[in-house]
Order: sequence, then structure tokens, then C-alpha cells
Amino acid sequence: MASLLKLLGHLLMMQIINAEAISSPIVLTASCSETNGDNNTHFVNPPSPHNGLCTLAVNHLDDNICQVRLDFIELELSEPEMDGQCVKDVFLVTGGISSPPLICGYNSGQHMYVEVDSAGGSLHLTVYRSATSPETNNWNIKVSQISCNSRYRAPYGCLQYYTTTEGTVRSFNFKQDSPTAADGTREVAGLDYGVCVHKPGGCYGIIWSRNTTGGDYGFTLTTDVYSLIPELLGTPAASATGADCMTDYVLIPGGVDDLQAQNDHYCGAGFPESVTSTVAPFVLYYHTDADEALDSGSRGFSLNYQLIMQ
Ligand SMILES: *[C@@H]1O[C@H](CO)[C@@H](O)[C@H](O)[C@H]1NC(C)=O
Ligand SMILES: *[C@@H]1O[C@H](CO)[C@@H](O)[C@H](O)[C@H]1NC(C)=O
Repeated sequence: MASLLKLLGHLLMMQIINAEAISSPIVLTASCSETNGDNNTHFVNPPSPHNGLCTLAVNHLDDNICQVRLDFIELELSEPEMDGQCVKDVFLVTGGISSPPLICGYNSGQHMYVEVDSAGGSLHLTVYRSATSPETNNWNIKVSQISCNSRYRAPYGCLQYYTTTEGTVRSFNFKQDSPTAADGTREVAGLDYGVCVHKPGGCYGIIWSRNTTGGDYGFTLTTDVYSLIPELLGTPAASATGADCMTDYVLIPGGVDDLQAQNDHYCGAGFPESVTSTVAPFVLYYHTDADEALDSGSRGFSLNYQLIMQ
């Protein structure tokens, strides 16, 4: 009897060990100058601080890969310059059909989709760090390969894609914290991309509003933020629309605000209480010009969306 219990205990223990092995899959990592053809590999910074180019070549898993999704579990590089250009550090993707923008700064939690031609060459992910970059910079980017017939495939051309009924979309390098005087702005210059939101059956519209967690900077695009009366910051009164938004703007096709004003270009240092659109597909575009020097203290945007169901 005692030995039977012992045997049962032993079997149970083995089962627990096996369950543990299954529930914690090994994370494959790769770093500078490597070539990798596995799914879900994490591109990570080398253990010692690195200057210059660090490139991972991603080979297609098979000949039916149409997209690669990059999840920035961590991506912390130097801030853009005063004018918004990524000079000290930059993350870039080359070799795909689509050309994702060059980004830098704080991008942990963000993601990107890249269109690829599986008959073409490998995709290259590169982190360039200048010799003057702080040593704390690091990255951990999950690389998922998406088959052409996968239901996880994003609509063609969407740099970002959200599939939940509510969520938060932030511009690259968005942070509520103030940029340093030398950095000037958190906005990255030269962006032009679309953020798509999946429209499930029974859904007829999408509502956008400013994310207020952490303060009033959730929508600061085109003003010298420091010259503004602090009480105005973030409010609809500090928001600009239409033809007043020529340099940097968020574009919401078919946008109608809570006061029934119709507009699709939004900029300034505030956002309406809400902007609703029923124009499908649901896409929010973000455009920044080549020079952010006049937009001191701007952070970019952090907007919540909520789908309207019938
Ligand atoms: C790669 O992994 C993801 C899960 O992260 C999965 O959805 C996808 O189908 C896989 N890709 C291929 C080509 O098997
Ligand atoms: C702002 O965004 C964060 C992150 O997605 C979310 O957890 C939070 O609830 C949002 N805040 C508001 C006020 O909606």
C-alpha cells in the first residue's frame, strides 16, 4: 500500500513537471548579424552595449508568408532630435514590400505589420545606435510570420492593426513625460501611416477620444505646448481642425465630433470630447512633416477607441 502511494505520488510529480514544460515554451532569441527563419523569434539587443548597426535577417518560414508582425515587447532608443528626426538611434525595417517608417525613442508595447513577398529575399530588422547613445538602450522584438491565408493577417497596407472592440492607440515615441529641453518634442518627423481597427459583424461605427490617464498631454501635435495656458491643454478649445492642420495631423475619415461638426483633420494641443466615424474600413491616419522644431513639448497622441455595436 505504502509503495503504491509512493508510485502514485511519483506519477503525479512527473505529470506536474511535464505540464510545466508545456506551459512555459522556450523563447528563441537572436541578435546582431544573425539570420533566422523560425516563427516567433525574439530579436534582442546583445548583452554588452552596442554601437553601430545591429541587423537580424529574417528568412521566410515557407513560401506562403505575406506579412510579418513585429511586437516591440521592449524598444527603448534615444529620443529624436529637436526637429523630430531620429539621428542618434534608429530602428528600421528593409526588404519588405511595405516600407515602415524610421522610428526611435520609447516604443515598448507598440507593434508594426510589414508586407513581405515570400518569393523575395529576407526581411532585415536593424537597430542603429550612435556612439553617443546611453548604455541603457535595449530591445526585445517578437517576430511573427503570418501566412497569406491566416485570419490574423492585417488588411493590406495597415502599419498597425487592432482587433479588439476597445483599445488605445499611441503614436510612436508617445509618453506623457516631458521631453528634455534638448529633445524638444516626442513627435517623430516624417511619419505617414494608417492604423486599422477590425470591424466585426454588427458594428457600425467607431468613437475616438483622448486618453487622459497620466495627464493632459494625450493629444499634443502642433503647438508650442509651453506657450499655452495650462488650463487649455488637452481640451477641445485647444484643438484645431480642417485647413488649420497642414503640418502634423491625425486624419479620421468621416469624423463627426460630439457637437456635430464634421472634420477629418485634427491637430493642435487638444482633441474634441469625442469623434465618431461610420466610414469603413476603420482607419486612423497619422502624418507628421519633416520638422517638429516649432512643436516644443509635443508628445504626439494617445487616443482610445470604442466600437459601436448595433
Ligand atoms: C507564427 O506564430 C503565430 C503565433 O504567434 C501564429 O499565429 C502563426 O500562424 C505562425 N505562423 C506560421 C506561418 O505558422
Ligand atoms: C488609457 O490607456 C491605457 C492603456 O491602454 C488604459 O489602460 C487606460 O484605461 C486608458 N485610460 C482611459 C482614461 O481610458
